[in-house]
Amino acid sequence: MPHDANDPTTIEQAAALIRAGKLCAFATETVYGLGADATNSDAVLAIYETKGRPRFNPLISHCADMEMARRYARFSPLAERIAARFWPGPLTLVLPMIPGSGLSDLVTAGLETVAIRVPGHADARALIAKVGRPVAAPSANPSGKLSPTTAAQVRKGFGGRVPVLDGGPCRNGLESTILTIEGDTVTQLRAGALAREEVEAFLGLPVHSASHDTAIAAPGMLKSHYAPEAAIRRDAERPHADEAFLAFGPEREGFSGPMLNLSPSGDLREAARNLFSYLARLDGEGRQRIAVAPIPHEGLGEAINDRLERAAAPRESEIA
Ligand code: TXA
Ligand code: MG
Repeated sequence: MPHDANDPTTIEQAAALIRAGKLCAFATETVYGLGADATNSDAVLAIYETKGRPRFNPLISHCADMEMARRYARFSPLAERIAARFWPGPLTLVLPMIPGSGLSDLVTAGLETVAIRVPGHADARALIAKVGRPVAAPSANPSGKLSPTTAAQVRKGFGGRVPVLDGGPCRNGLESTILTIEGDTVTQLRAGALAREEVEAFLGLPVHSASHDTAIAAPGMLKSHYAPEAAIRRDAERPHADEAFLAFGPEREGFSGPMLNLSPSGDLREAARNLFSYLARLDGEGRQRIAVAPIPHEGLGEAINDRLERAAAPRESEIA
């Protein structure tokens, strides 16, 4: 049931659009994705064009179930175990691609690996099952903007040009965790909605951190990928008078400017869910700068801090 009567796109209509090589945004449990048929290069190109995204970013192929995923990626026994435990869910696995499986090389950006995920949102899986092929989808925002967690944000971002399968607000509000598995070694390429500690507890093995070289393995991770318009000042104990404030944990008295609290109780899961939408709301306050309270670097705090670091980084145009 769509949450917005202005765009009553159904699962059937969304599947028909994607099968026909068109784009349709859809809800996942992490963030909204801008979906296209992952086997159709023209359709995949439309994703890059619509987002204004640098070409070298490979995309995640979303599958309806394990059976579909196995047609495109080679799963080692360890990869099978991890998938069986955490799929459907906010986890992306980078695995060897099965050659000739039909994925567009614009999806893999020419790599021999594929990033694959079975999303936790039931509508997303129903959509992909109806499409009958993997659905390539980056977050459904213009490149360099915040990832959307509601259908209304997707419409706003693309000025209403992209149909949206409205699945309500995203449960996690933070992108999937990306792991790659080589032999017995599991490496985290991107922190995300599944905490590293949860994977480690399940495996009884450490999950390694990607070194700086893996910037090549995960080329999408441009420094300023998650940039609001306002400048970000991190680890701010208290805001300056001219700043907006993104708080975390119990609040101090005495700030009368625009303020939102990621989680008054200090709950990192709640903070992760609110992160993008609160940044977007504070960004809309027209202040030059958003001060952000310190976030503990544990559990989901790692992913939150990663996003904040990117949001605070100089814009690529300023670097280049
Ligand atoms: O939660 C999510 O993951 C959302 C929803 C829509 O599923 N999608 C998402 O996609 O965040 P995107 O395109 O914004 O991020 C995909 C990331 C990029 O950092 C990209 O570099 C990495 O996945 N990636 C894709 N294929 C890869 C590969 N073969 N090797 C290494 N990294 C890869
Ligand atoms: Mg993104």
